[in-house]
Amino acid sequence: MIETIKNELKSYLESVLSARYGKPVGVVVEEPKRKDQGDLSVPVFTIAKTAQTGVPAVQKDIADAIAASPLHAYFSQIAPMGGFLNLRLDPAGIAKAIMKAFLAQGEAYGDSLKNAGETVVIDYSSPNIAKPFSIGHLRSTIIGHALGNLLEKTGAKVVRINHLGDFGTQFGKIIYAFQTFGDRSKVEADPINELVKLYVEYHERAKEHPELDDAARAIFTALEHGDPIYTALWSWFREVSLADYMQVYQLLDVHFDSYNGEAFYNDKMQAVIDELAAKNLLKEDAGAMIVDLGEEIPPALIQKKDGSTLYITRDLAALFYRKNTYHFDRALYVVGNEQKLHFEQLKKVVRLMGYPEADTIEHVNFGLVLQDGKKMSTRKGKVVKLVDVLHEAIELSKAYIEEKNPDLADKDAIATKIGVSAIIFNDLKNFRANDFEFNLEDMVKFEGQTGPYLQYTSVRITSILNLEPFVFDGDVDFALLAADPAFEIVKAVGQYQSTVEKAAAEASPSIVAKYLLSLAALFNSYYAKERVNVEDVREKQTKKHLIAMVRAVLNDGMRLLGMQIIEKM
Ligand code: ARG
Repeated sequence: MIETIKNELKSYLESVLSARYGKPVGVVVEEPKRKDQGDLSVPVFTIAKTAQTGVPAVQKDIADAIAASPLHAYFSQIAPMGGFLNLRLDPAGIAKAIMKAFLAQGEAYGDSLKNAGETVVIDYSSPNIAKPFSIGHLRSTIIGHALGNLLEKTGAKVVRINHLGDFGTQFGKIIYAFQTFGDRSKVEADPINELVKLYVEYHERAKEHPELDDAARAIFTALEHGDPIYTALWSWFREVSLADYMQVYQLLDVHFDSYNGEAFYNDKMQAVIDELAAKNLLKEDAGAMIVDLGEEIPPALIQKKDGSTLYITRDLAALFYRKNTYHFDRALYVVGNEQKLHFEQLKKVVRLMGYPEADTIEHVNFGLVLQDGKKMSTRKGKVVKLVDVLHEAIELSKAYIEEKNPDLADKDAIATKIGVSAIIFNDLKNFRANDFEFNLEDMVKFEGQTGPYLQYTSVRITSILNLEPFVFDGDVDFALLAADPAFEIVKAVGQYQSTVEKAAAEASPSIVAKYLLSLAALFNSYYAKERVNVEDVREKQTKKHLIAMVRAVLNDGMRLLGMQIIEKM
């Protein structure tokens, strides 16, 4: 809330003073180090200099301007001191301001215009066709989805892109394997596993017969040139893989604006290669084409000796396509730490080509998911199937409900919402660049730093509010809200918007996750001490408003993170 008041005051004073002095005036609103001087403070010397007038005159102008605006409700005291104008915040004024925002915005409380007019493309999830949806792709999906929501909440237009890994030399191998020793009905029955088997067996055979690689390469080249038979097989593999991934997307309730994967850029890469050549950036190196990136970064390999293109070539084409199609202001790539170099190279090539878009590229990196300290990618020698992990979480949640509330109606649906949200929250509460331990049992618990704890807190508030009819009309005792312990909660509720803005700016959903945990903790300790359903009607009404605000923020925050809201559990 302080941030919001600071910003409001700053832009209000800048416009009033600029008009008054007839020239642009910059205003700084800061928090004085010594609290006894006030909560906020406006340094006046520079303004007086710009306005070519005295410090006392400016102090008076500012004080008058505040008195004439609704902003004055925030302050209990406005006093000149030395070269400053010091302001003391009025707790009741703050509570009123927050209540006003709630009454005006309702469910949209916290919506901001910080990034209004901005377009952000987010490249996330992006699994590789014919391979299982990995835990890494789950992280990308969860983080990217949350970022999209956070950015939308701050007014940005978001384009969600699933840059499917549906092209590359491996398709030559899979097609070769399928045509030589594959079985259509087996692929139909269990597509991903069967395609993986074919790929593995291909590699076994190629160890003995390296000439297979020539055959596979020839197939991929033909595919690149649109060979109809290979194209039909490729598109079938893509379709059955996507159908498999859709199970995960449905469970998580994520959606994309575009599924244009790497193959989509097949006919768009030559233009990039030509442009690189025209700009004298392309160099031949042992028959291959590279772009030299200087001392620090290894060169980018753009085209292999056999003429085939690479991952980065497609990413270059994709970037220019997105630039021309969406005119983005920011381009986020939610991809694991291990691709750090790739994105450095991408940025550098784009910069060398002379495009300022290079600076809008952000690699939103993330760490590994560990189990017992080791990378969680295989279990008992088998690849961990993501849907299985999700279903395991759902089963555990169901067992938990069975134990705590066996009579609950709709147990299955609720367990699904809890299990899935538990996985999502467990991921997002960690700073994304860090590795984290995956422990299903811990993350589905209703207490501790978990998703179910947040859902449980919201449900708890719902059940308190549902005891009798309650109308949120803002008619409360503000003195009660302005005193602790309520005021602590009011302040936290007031910080929601700036928390979301920070998380969106830093592409860091964990900021919101941690905020929600602390808000839930504040409520729970408040409720341990305070009775809400008291005799005094006004006190009761005031307390209900307070906890209704907490629930609204918890629910909206969970929604932003991609979690599901529940009414009962
Ligand atoms: N398919 C890639 C992988 O699984 C991730 C793609 C990320 N997006 C991009 N534009 N490079 O490693």
